[in-house]
Amino acid sequence: MIRNNRKIISGSTFIEHIAIATTILRIPKDTEGVVVECGTYKGVSAANLSLVCAFVNRKLEIFDSFEGLPTPSRQDAVHTLLSRREIHTYERGAWNGTLDEVKNNIQKYGRPDVCYFNKGFFDQTLPNFKQKAILVWVDVDYRSSLETCVKYLWPLLQDGGYFFTHEVEHSEIASLFFSESWWRENLNTAPPGMIGAGTGLGFKILTGSHFSSSLGYTIKNPNKQAFAEVPQIGGMKVNLSSSFKLTSCEKGRS
Ligand SMILES: C[S@@+](CC[C@H](N)C(=O)[O-])C[C@H]1O[C@@H](n2cnc3c(N)ncnc32)[C@H](O)[C@@H]1O
Repeated sequence: MIRNNRKIISGSTFIEHIAIATTILRIPKDTEGVVVECGTYKGVSAANLSLVCAFVNRKLEIFDSFEGLPTPSRQDAVHTLLSRREIHTYERGAWNGTLDEVKNNIQKYGRPDVCYFNKGFFDQTLPNFKQKAILVWVDVDYRSSLETCVKYLWPLLQDGGYFFTHEVEHSEIASLFFSESWWRENLNTAPPGMIGAGTGLGFKILTGSHFSSSLGYTIKNPNKQAFAEVPQIGGMKVNLSSSFKLTSCEKGRS
């Protein structure tokens, strides 16, 4: 996987691929479902994830126009990255990787036998897709593209399944996962939130500031049993599952 990120021009990092790959490995084998990638560019994340999919015997469904980004809406022409103090601009045809280029890269560096290619803009291809998924990985730059992916793929994601997105430092991308009105209107459910919103998961240090990346994720309907209950009693957090020793003074108080 490290080699692949050196050999193929990439929009995402090796560490981000590892985070997604290890999540796939943790999903129980008897949970039915494919892995979905939306936004593949030259195919580096697809090549890397295909290696893991082959290992756990799952299909990798790859969606892309294979002709780069569509024309941006006014909202998507300019994105704000507060944590990086950057403004990103986009235009039609950027991030173009052709189907031949992607197939060729996966042939050389991945596992083509587990890959399935869905060519076209998402609003044309995703409505016809009906397979259950255990993990969705979306790296699509635009809010409008992300909305299409969430609208059609969230209902196919298994409970406890993972939805990863890139560009999570962009206000326009992160805010979707907190929009009460959008989730109610489109999926009749509450917004799930997004771990890493605004700064990304902390994989590398952002100069003079904090740990960050472009990757974030959320989980669909997580099983509440798997969560630790942490009662809050006044100003101090008490974790019932932790094994720290109480001092005699604290014992007296409690
Ligand atoms: C940043 S690139 C993906 C980078 C890639 N995951 C990597 O790791 O190198 C964004 C991709 O999303 C695709 N894309 C964005 N919006 C799309 C849409 N509405 N329909 C189809 N493809 C789209 C572009 O064609 C492009 O390949």
